Amino acid sequence: MEMAEFVINGGRKLKGEIKIMGAKNSALKILPASLLFSTPVKIKNIPLIEDVFRMRDLLTDIGASVKEIGERSLEVRFGREIGSNLKKDIAERFRASIVLAGPVLARTGRVSFPFPGGCVIGKRPIDIFLDGWKKMGATVRESGSGFDIAAKRLSGKDFTFKNISVTGTETLMLSAVLAHGKTILRNAALEPEIPSLAEFLNKSGAKIKGAGTSTIEIIGTGGKLLKARRAFEVIPDRIETGDFLILGAIIGDNIKVTDCNPEHLTTLIAMLESLGVKIKMGKNWVSVSRPKILSSSDIKTKEYPGFVTDLQAPYTVLMTQAHGESIIFETVFDGRLNYIDDLNRMGAKITPLDTHRVLVHGPTSLRGREIESPDLRAGLAFVMAALIAKGESIVKNIYQIDRGYEKIEERLQKIGADIKRI
Ligand code: EPU
Repeated sequence: MEMAEFVINGGRKLKGEIKIMGAKNSALKILPASLLFSTPVKIKNIPLIEDVFRMRDLLTDIGASVKEIGERSLEVRFGREIGSNLKKDIAERFRASIVLAGPVLARTGRVSFPFPGGCVIGKRPIDIFLDGWKKMGATVRESGSGFDIAAKRLSGKDFTFKNISVTGTETLMLSAVLAHGKTILRNAALEPEIPSLAEFLNKSGAKIKGAGTSTIEIIGTGGKLLKARRAFEVIPDRIETGDFLILGAIIGDNIKVTDCNPEHLTTLIAMLESLGVKIKMGKNWVSVSRPKILSSSDIKTKEYPGFVTDLQAPYTVLMTQAHGESIIFETVFDGRLNYIDDLNRMGAKITPLDTHRVLVHGPTSLRGREIESPDLRAGLAFVMAALIAKGESIVKNIYQIDRGYEKIEERLQKIGADIKRI
């Protein structure tokens, strides 16, 4: 494991342009989807981040040949020999590895994988996936360290998600594409990465209706593989976009976020505007500056298009700089407020109300400290806190940040941040 850390000297205003990379949570789904194809699949705008490298390792390990065909572009090709075991020491490092299980099962009739983890919040249940596969005719065996799933034939079924799950929706959608008969997924997730994936699969011969709504219908091809007719372009990362907008609202002196899709962030933008933040935007850019007075507002995280949980920790950092009190209510995940003690050590005044809610008293001035990233989003929130704090901070365990953000320090340096990787 690498032991790199960020050394950050806070207090500088940030100014200039910052470019958004392709979405982690889109790239991590199209890579596994390449198993559903008889042709090579070209993928453009892939972010160069650790979770993507791990997914590529998993694909290679089960027999894919993966070729670089340009900057941030890959071509993935599967031959006849396809393995069904997801390599334990790689798959258990990130939760999204489970998405690969769906296409492997659909293509080879079986799949074995370890319990997926990654970080504190990555170790969550996978019962929804298992329920879906069982309903489609698979048998599930749990072994000491993971799962063995087998299905000679997956059959389309009418399946209702008991909880909304993004990767659950994508994984079952990918499982159903080659299945026999019609699958209906109800109470499906609406995140923009889902219709983007479905649109590409449809152009390649799949029959998916309703992706981006809560009911998705898939007519299975009955085993016939898809044919890619054009390259898949990974959509802009909406979480990264939101991070930089929040950062701009804290210490921006006109930060322009480019190569993004503001339509995927209307809830955050409406929230920032209500706090007094001035925002300008075009089709693929947004610019933002710190307002004279930043007001406070409560948030409650929700599935898309609600306030996204992945921006909850950065928003809490923003609220430490706002005038007034705010309640942060995390409804999607357990344990995703575990970073507040560290912010308090930096000088924030955040009080837990219960396991899912905290009260932030602002504004407070933050001081540099040594802090350790618990997961990638809270890790980035620590970087933000360090950028506004007086003095030097050291952010440790930055592998977590590298999992989702490409060369974040270089991009922040370009807008004036004093941050070094050592
Ligand atoms: N859940 C279950 N059983 C399951 C699956 C989920 O109980 O079988 C619960 C989870 O414990 C959680 C809730 O359902 O409380 C929602 O989890 P969901 O399944 O939607 O999360 P996910 O699909 O695993 C994706 C993103 C997350 C993002 C969430 C919410 C990927 C690879 N991950 O996770 O991204 O926070 O949706 O939008 O797409 C991140 O990028 O940092 C990240 C965590």
